[in-house]
Order: sequence, then C-alpha cells, then structure tokens
Amino acid sequence: MSIAKVVSGVLALGLYLAASATWAAEGPHTYSADDVAAGKAVYTGTCIACHGANGKGLLPGTPDFTKAGGVLSLSDEVLEDRIIHGFSTGDVAMPPDGGNASLKESDIKHVIAYLHATFGH
Ligand code: HEC
Repeated sequence: MSIAKVVSGVLALGLYLAASATWAAEGPHTYSADDVAAGKAVYTGTCIACHGANGKGLLPGTPDFTKAGGVLSLSDEVLEDRIIHGFSTGDVAMPPDGGNASLKESDIKHVIAYLHATFGH
C-alpha cells in the first residue's frame, strides 16, 4: 500500500469520525421504541384531553404540535421544563405536569419522545 493511500485512508476515517461526532451532537433525538410506547400511555392518559389525539390541539390556545418549526422544534430541555413547570403566554395555561402531579421525570422524557415520534421535529 502506498503512503498516499494510507494517508488518504486516515484522512477519510478522520472525516468520518468528525461527521459522526457532529451527528451525535446535533442529530435526531435519541429514544427507543419502548420510550415512545411509555410516552403514548402518558399522552393518552394526561395530555390528550387538551392536545387531542392528532396533536393539533382541542382546547383553544393549545399549539399545533404538527406545525413545522412549531413548539416541537424547541430543545428537549425547554420542552421538559415547560411541561414540568407549566407554561402560559396568554389566557389559557399549560398546567404543570399537564395537571397530573403523579407524573415522574421519566414520564416527561417518555412523553417528549412520543411527541417527536408521532408529530415530528
Ligand atoms: C388542561 C389542558 C392541558 C393539558 C392536560 C396539557 N396541556 Fe400542554 N398546553 C396547554 C395549553 C393551553 C398550552 C399553550 C400554553 C401557551 O402557549 O400559553 C400548552 C402547551 C404545551 C406545550 C408547548 C409549550 C411551549 O413552549 O409553547 C407542550 C410541549 C405541551 N403543552 C405538552 C403537554 C404534555 C406533554 C401534556 C401531558 C403531560 C400536556 N401538555 C397536557 C394545555 C394543556
């Protein structure tokens, strides 16, 4: 094997690693099918009353989760904070934990996985 081939091989590997590191940092959300299934139970148990099965919102003032560039394009940290602590920009408020005080932090992570897997972003 020539030196040039070795060098280009090493360069290609370096580029590949750099590219996958970037993907890991900015890439799609990491969650498993089990997370999504657990999140679906949380959504149907607690969130669906106001947000609707199709995520477009039943209660006036709720956001459309399916909208491109909408609330689900916020970071998971922001979503988690707003779901846990509640959130309001107007007359109708998102209640803390969706009004279900029995929800645990893992439930919130799972429901966020469900939102992304089902409604996008
Ligand atoms: C009692 C009705 C109600 C329930 C139940 C409810 N929400 Fe909400 N949610 C709202 C309303 C109203 C808003 C809009 C608040 C605003 O923008 O002022 C909202 C907003 C949101 C947002 C967007 C926050 C943002 O940054 O704009 C997310 C995400 C969300 N809800 C997730 C959930 C999840 C997950 C659950 C279940 C655990 C849930 N909601 C349960 C009423 C509800």
